Amino acid sequence: MKKIESFSEYQSEYQKSIENPELFWEEKANTFNWVSKWNKVLNWEFQSPKVEWFVGGKLNITENCLDRHLKSKSNKIAIIWEPNNPKDEIIKITYKELHQKVSTFSNVLKSHGVRKGDRICLYMPMVPELAIATLACARIGAVHSVVFAGFSAKALAERINDAECNVLLTSDGQYRGKKQLCLKNIADEALLSCDSIKSCIVLKRTGEKISMRLDRDFWWHEEIQKVNSFCPVEVMDSEDPLFILYTSGSTGKPKGVQHHCGGYMVYAEYSFRNVFQYEENDIYWCTADIGWITGHSYIVYGPLLAGATTIMFEGVPTYPNAGRFWDICDKHQVNIFYTAPTAIRALQAYGTEILKPYSLGSLKTLGSVGEPINEEAWQWYFKNIGKEKCAIVDTWWQTETGGILISPLSHITKTKPTYATLPLPGIQPCIVDADGCEIIGNDVQGNLCIKFPWPSMIRTIYRDHQRCKDVYFSTYKGKYFTGDGCRRDTDGLYRITGRVDDVINVSGHRIGTAEVENGINEHHLVIESAVVGFTHPIKGQGIYAYIILEKNSISEDLLIKEILETVNIEIGPIAKPDKIQFVSGLPKTRSGKIMRRILRKIADGNFSDLGDTSTLLDPTVVNSIIYNIK
Ligand code: WTA
Repeated sequence: MKKIESFSEYQSEYQKSIENPELFWEEKANTFNWVSKWNKVLNWEFQSPKVEWFVGGKLNITENCLDRHLKSKSNKIAIIWEPNNPKDEIIKITYKELHQKVSTFSNVLKSHGVRKGDRICLYMPMVPELAIATLACARIGAVHSVVFAGFSAKALAERINDAECNVLLTSDGQYRGKKQLCLKNIADEALLSCDSIKSCIVLKRTGEKISMRLDRDFWWHEEIQKVNSFCPVEVMDSEDPLFILYTSGSTGKPKGVQHHCGGYMVYAEYSFRNVFQYEENDIYWCTADIGWITGHSYIVYGPLLAGATTIMFEGVPTYPNAGRFWDICDKHQVNIFYTAPTAIRALQAYGTEILKPYSLGSLKTLGSVGEPINEEAWQWYFKNIGKEKCAIVDTWWQTETGGILISPLSHITKTKPTYATLPLPGIQPCIVDADGCEIIGNDVQGNLCIKFPWPSMIRTIYRDHQRCKDVYFSTYKGKYFTGDGCRRDTDGLYRITGRVDDVINVSGHRIGTAEVENGINEHHLVIESAVVGFTHPIKGQGIYAYIILEKNSISEDLLIKEILETVNIEIGPIAKPDKIQFVSGLPKTRSGKIMRRILRKIADGNFSDLGDTSTLLDPTVVNSIIYNIK
């Protein structure tokens, strides 16, 4: 696939993509290997909604990630694996080896009865086997559901049960900096309530003692010995599901966002090549975890489709010290580096002295993703890491969008700190007001929608199409609603201002306030709770919980500890509130709705401008909350 080379080419490509989207995307799709081509490029309507790309086309994404590179790139490194401990051995896997490892594991899955359309849950550390298993699922047409290995047993069980997975892939343990966590114990606890899982295949990573159930649990290293390494691809329809990935929303349980084979493939490579301006032999590193969408699209699929060398990092940015990222960049001569603002801010706090030993001379492009990047972090990244020579690409997108939608193209689009700048070709964003009317022109602000389909957009929520319609397509008729606020400046550049719904973005992780509240409410002394986000210097947003308790004689400190542990058990450490305030009442309207707007302002220490409180059932509640802040 050819990439855009200049800003004028971007403009003309964009124009082409708007005037004739079908022709535009057909051209891109033609660069892949298809078993047979589509009979129609696009079917769509945003009411039901129904979106189909490359209708009737047949393919397998792993043929395009692996087999098609074997002719010219079989000895090229596909994956460089950097272990948690820098003293341990680095692993490099060529395209040929990756092809063989994926095929072998595909046969392991088959030997466990996995068939096209089955759902497989992956609950694993950032080791090469995670990428291998993800691709193995895709190769045989099984739908992967990767669950971030920081989620609790309960959260894991909820996701396994929702998707009715029949195989779980996990490891004995995982290393994260100085910590060692036993994943298999967590998996065992989850599996107590998961009847659908017939096999659990366990990778040996830490070597710690774990229990294996003879009728259900199998060692990875033993299973791969039992099969051969030849596995033809399963022929998939362009609109067959490729994966499910759970993400949080404003209400209810996490949603299984579903992506399909053809469109996702085309957009993953297209966006990867263009945003990062990937050139053959670039070393590319995205620091995300494969448990999130960024890891799916821009560690595994995008780079491998492009035949790139992608780095997988098992550890954390501060282990063994806060220079680890930069050490890895120098060691592997990284050209394209992609991380989250929260990591930048955390490392910024260590000062610039720590950067002295590193050259960082190989870097060309620096990416940012997951949350709005503040001006200070942008400038620090630009000056100290990019030495004012690298382009910063602030990439806006979502689990539901499958790929980057608004972003500069590296060294092509003029950047502006804190701005994601311009839509990629094929993407038609619009800003709407509270009534859903599109706001035309520049220097405007409102809610961000997309008014035309793109190939990697969400197709449905697993077994809950109604919810897909309600959440994304009902707020503004005929448009996909992102849940984000946005401004368009006088030059037409987009700046994403953050969520406008009840989703909090903590260190780039999406957390639903309702989920945290449900977790807190599991504590037997909690009567009611309300959770909001507040501005946090490192995490972007922190979690603030207002809690009403039953009368009790337990100390506040102990209660806070217990409530945090409850959330830890219900969801996982990422959802633990940063601040807890016990209150006697919550600001509610006469109809019983909590006015979160007021709670958000209080959490941010913004007491003077609380807006209209006259509709509150009991306005004195507000003063009492403010008065009792510790
Ligand atoms: C936020 C992550 C501002 C946004 C890829 C979005 C951003 C949510 C940016 C999706 C950015 C992501 N600037 N905000 N560059 N990138 N977001 O599903 O609120 O984990 O709706 O996907 O993160 O989070 P998700």
